[in-house]
This record gives sequence, C-alpha cells and structure tokens, in this order.
Amino acid sequence: MPSHPTEQSQETEGYPALLNLSAQPHWTVFVSDFALPSHDVRRLKRQLENVPTRALFVRLDRGLNELNRTLRSASINLRDDYISFQALTFQHSNSLQVTRLLGSPRRDLAKLELPLPESRFLPSHASHLLRIVMKADYREQELIAHRFFGLLSRRKPYTVKAETADGTLLVNDERPWYDFSGRLREGEMRILPAGEVSYAGNHVEGDFTVDGAILPFPEHPELAAYASRLGRLSRTMRRRPLQLKIRRGEVIDVGGKGDAPRAFRRLFEKDERYRRVVEVGISFNSASRRFIHSWPAASNEVHPGVHLGIGGDPSRNDDGYERAARLIHIDLIAVNCRVDVNGHGFLRFHS
Ligand SMILES: [Fe+2]
Repeated sequence: MPSHPTEQSQETEGYPALLNLSAQPHWTVFVSDFALPSHDVRRLKRQLENVPTRALFVRLDRGLNELNRTLRSASINLRDDYISFQALTFQHSNSLQVTRLLGSPRRDLAKLELPLPESRFLPSHASHLLRIVMKADYREQELIAHRFFGLLSRRKPYTVKAETADGTLLVNDERPWYDFSGRLREGEMRILPAGEVSYAGNHVEGDFTVDGAILPFPEHPELAAYASRLGRLSRTMRRRPLQLKIRRGEVIDVGGKGDAPRAFRRLFEKDERYRRVVEVGISFNSASRRFIHSWPAASNEVHPGVHLGIGGDPSRNDDGYERAARLIHIDLIAVNCRVDVNGHGFLRFHS
C-alpha cells in the first residue's frame, strides 16, 4: 500500500480517479453474477495495483447473506471499513438486490449498466463498458461539471439551451441538475459508465434533432423484445435524424425520414406516457468515442452530446426500479450540438 493512504490519487483516469480513496481503509468489491472474463480481471487488478484500496472479486449467486459472509471472511469490517461496490449484474433480480448493498454508511455503489439476458447479454458487453470506465478521465469530468454548475448558479431561474441541427431546446427552471461525473461520493449510487449532468423536471420546450443514436433500456424483462426492435432504428439516426417537437416537457410531434417517426408515433399511441421527457442529459465522457448500434450499450448515453430520455423514470439515486412504472427508458441522443448555460457557451459537440 502507498505510504499516504489518505490522499486521493493524482491519476486522472480510471479507477484510481473514480474511487473515493480519501475514505480509508478502502475496499473495492466487484460483485458479479457471471464469470468475469479473466482479461478484465487482470486489467482491473493492474489498474488498482498501486492504489490505496484492496480489490476483491465475488459472485452474487447465493444471495446477499452469503455475500456478506464472503466479505467478512476476507476480513472486511462491514461496519467501519469503506466499501465501494462495483456491481456487474445482468440478471434483473440481481440488479435489484445489489441496491441493498448501500444500506449502511461508508459505502458507495457503482452499477455497470449491462443488457438483460432477455436483451442477449454477452460477457464481451461487460468488457466493452469496463474498458470505458477504466479509460474515462474523471478529473476532466469534474472540471466540466464544476463549470456547468458555476454557470447554472448565475441566474434563477436558469436557462440551459441546446442547439441541435434543426432546432433549439430550452430548459428554463429552478429545479436542480444532478451530477453523475467525477469521483464517487460516499452514499452515492452511480450507473456506469458515467460522465453527465442531467435534469429531470418538465420545463422543457423546443425542437431537438436526434442525429446520434437511440438507446432503449427496458426496465423489466417483459419489455426487452420491444426495446430491441426500437434499438434497431439507432443506426439510421446519423443519416436520417429524428426530429422532436417538445412542449411543456412532452413530445407533441415527431418528424424525419425513414422508419423512426412512424415507430415513435406508434409507441405514443400504445402508451401516452412515452411522450413525457423524463431526462435532459449533457454528456462529456470522452472515453466513449463511438456509438454502438448492435446492442444496448450504456456507453452511448455518455458519448459527448445531449440526450433526452423519454418513458421510464431515470431517477438514479434510489432503488426505484421496482417502484417505477414498467416502461422502456429511451435515450434519444444528439451529437451535433452546442449548449449554452445562462447565455454563456458551455460545450460544443461534433460527430
Ligand atoms: Fe442520461
């Protein structure tokens, strides 16, 4: 162990910059419900080698009681030691269970957002997402988020403006934005890969061009088949962008060429709740460099750009999956855009 365990590491990338290392003694516990590919385990161990944490890899196959026994037998003091849980679970029931790991103080929980078995999860999906988590620059994220919140606080109500290829979207409100970037904080639940600030109110007005990707994430296995049908439209966005008209936080019209507008109109007819914009996110994870359209890759959401989430509730700071209505959360991602906060240029994105 390094000689100054109370200091945060000076590294800016990957786990050394993600973990809350000022909390000591620190453990990083990887909890999975499948066999992690050995090359990932090797890479993770290597990244944590000279970091003041002890890494442990455990399986969640026999429930949380068994998991706690394993932790105790690894001589973790469950009351006093600080534990960062890194959940890699693809079974829906396990993903619900791991949120209970946050029950005590001196913990944080990061969940890698993996496709469900019903969405044809493969261990290589986990490898891809882990690579992004291990490459992300958390210091850069912190600086960007710091600038965002600084600009945001200059006016009340604030105005956040996103200009996409064919329209301008405004968020005019006083409600807080959430920070899913930088180093993990005690008590936090974070979906990984992260690197965004987001808004969950309904003061959203204007037009928005989806020219990056569509990422449908079913909040229950029974929605997986429908979600993957919608996901097939993702690769068409770049050449045939989807146009959204939004009034009072609801999508009132969709336009554009190709099959996507019709598919979304049908979705809204099926269930009006999909019209609701439940999230506006500004993403700046520079390690997410390309969109993946062949499976629901959570890295798409944090690809630099702006996205709107419709449908399922994105609230990420609670264990709300069970309580949430059973919907698909659909991220609609714009990649060519510029964002102004209270009239000041904040970020510009280009594909
Ligand atoms: Fe988001």
